[in-house]
Amino acid sequence: MNKVLVHTLTARLLHWLNMLAITLLTLSGFYIHAPLVFSVFPSMDKARLIHFTFMYIVIFSVGFRIFYAFRQGEAGEIAFHPRDIKGIPGLIRYYLFVSDRMPDYGKFNPGQKAMYTAWALLIGVQGITGFILYWPGPLGYLGYLLGGLAMVRLVHYLITWIFVCTVIVHVYLVFISGFEVFKSMITGYIPQNQAHGGQ
Ligand code: HEM
Repeated sequence: MNKVLVHTLTARLLHWLNMLAITLLTLSGFYIHAPLVFSVFPSMDKARLIHFTFMYIVIFSVGFRIFYAFRQGEAGEIAFHPRDIKGIPGLIRYYLFVSDRMPDYGKFNPGQKAMYTAWALLIGVQGITGFILYWPGPLGYLGYLLGGLAMVRLVHYLITWIFVCTVIVHVYLVFISGFEVFKSMITGYIPQNQAHGGQ
C-alpha cells in the first residue's frame, strides 16, 4: 500500500508540544482555580510554576505553528475562510449518517478548520487575559477596560472549558477516523486511500 506524507516532522513535534502544554496549563489552571476540589498537584507553588513555565511554551509552540503554516504555504489549508461555510452542510450530512461519504475537502474539512482557527484565536485571548492576571500592575488599565480582574479571570477560566470540550471532540473524531489517522501524527504517513481523514 502506497503511503503519503501528511504531517512533516516539525508539524508533528509542534502538535505534541501543543498537546502537552495545553494539558498541563489546563490541569494546573484548574488546580489554581480550586486547589481543594482539583488537587492534582502537591502545592500551589508547583502548580503555578508549571502554569508560568508552560504559558511561555504554548505561546512559542502555537506562534511557531502559525509561522510554520505560512512558511509552508499551508495556512489556507488549515485556517477557516468564509468560503468554507458552503462545505458545512455536506459535513453535517456525513456526521448525521445521512450521507455515507464525506465530501472531498482536501487536507482538512471545514469543521477541522473552524476548530484549529478558533484554538489559535483562543490561545491569543488566554495570552492576553493570562498576562493581565500575571502583571496586574503594568497591565491593570487593560484589565479595567475589559471589566476588571474578576471578569478577566472568569473569561480565562471559561475559555479553559471551551478547550476541554473541543479537545474531547477532537480526540473522539480522531478515534472514530481509525488507527491510521492517529498513527499519521506519529509517523507522518498515511495510506494513500485514507489521505483525507476527518479528525
Ligand atoms: C497563553 C498564556 C497563558 C498565560 C499568560 C496564563 C496566565 C495565567 C495566570 C497569571 C493565572 C493566575 C495564576 C494565579 O493566580 O496564581 C492563570 C490562571 C489560570 N489559567 Fe492560565 N495562562 C495562560 C494559558 C492558559 C491556558 C492555555 C489555559 C487552559 C486551556 C489556562 C487555564 C487557566 C486556569 C483554569 C486558571 C485559573 C483561573 C481561575 O483562578 O479562575 N491558562 N493563568
